[in-house]
Amino acid sequence: MDTQFLRAFYDLASWIRLSPLLNGPYLPFSAWSLRPGALIKLLDDIALGDRKVLVECGSGTSTIVFARYLAQRGYGNVLSLEHDEKWARWVNDQLAQEGLTDVARVVHAPLAEHPAAVKRVEWYEPATVEDEIGAFTDKHGRIDLLLVDGPPGWEQGRKMARYPAVPALKDHLAPGATVMLDDVNRSEGVEITKRWEDECGLTMQLDPYGTRTAFGNFPV
Ligand SMILES: C[S@@+](CC[C@H](N)C(=O)[O-])C[C@H]1O[C@@H](n2cnc3c(N)ncnc32)[C@H](O)[C@@H]1O
Repeated sequence: MDTQFLRAFYDLASWIRLSPLLNGPYLPFSAWSLRPGALIKLLDDIALGDRKVLVECGSGTSTIVFARYLAQRGYGNVLSLEHDEKWARWVNDQLAQEGLTDVARVVHAPLAEHPAAVKRVEWYEPATVEDEIGAFTDKHGRIDLLLVDGPPGWEQGRKMARYPAVPALKDHLAPGATVMLDDVNRSEGVEITKRWEDECGLTMQLDPYGTRTAFGNFPV
């Protein structure tokens, strides 16, 4: 079947499945947002895998949708790392308006040099990551779902921007944790997943439904 058609069809079906989480205040989905098909795959993994400790690199509507689901379910927490201070404030304000601040929080972590970076492409500031992720996992336990949807990596010279997520956070990942990388259609997406497999023992698979994501698990 034509890939674009498959993707559009899967997205349409996913909007319908997302509807129980979309009857709150309006959410501005944009070209930056995770596609509905990818959100559904993550929500299914959270539900069926009983994921409770979620970390996200790159905040947005995904943060709010996860928070709505966890609040409805009654347990679980999300911490989102965000390089853009204004955007972090917008998402945190939205969470506050919906009474979801006990469930989800966006941490502003400016981009900075990181020891795990490739070719010195900046990632989230190491001290902020260590303090915030350390405090979050001390409180809730190890991360059992890691979504890597930031920082932006499409500009020239920033292609490997998302690579540090797994090496930087692997000591905080639970055995068997799910890891999802978005935008693997770009060639560096394949390189990043390959390096995570070789260097960190993950097994990653491209999603067959055209969501342009790769899913995998941290070793048990
Ligand atoms: C791929 S986006 C992350 C999207 C997020 N996970 C979601 O599904 O909504 C990567 C970065 O783009 C920026 N961003 C996301 N949505 C945006 C918007 N609507 N307007 C401006 N910047 C946005 C944020 O800085 C974010 O960290």
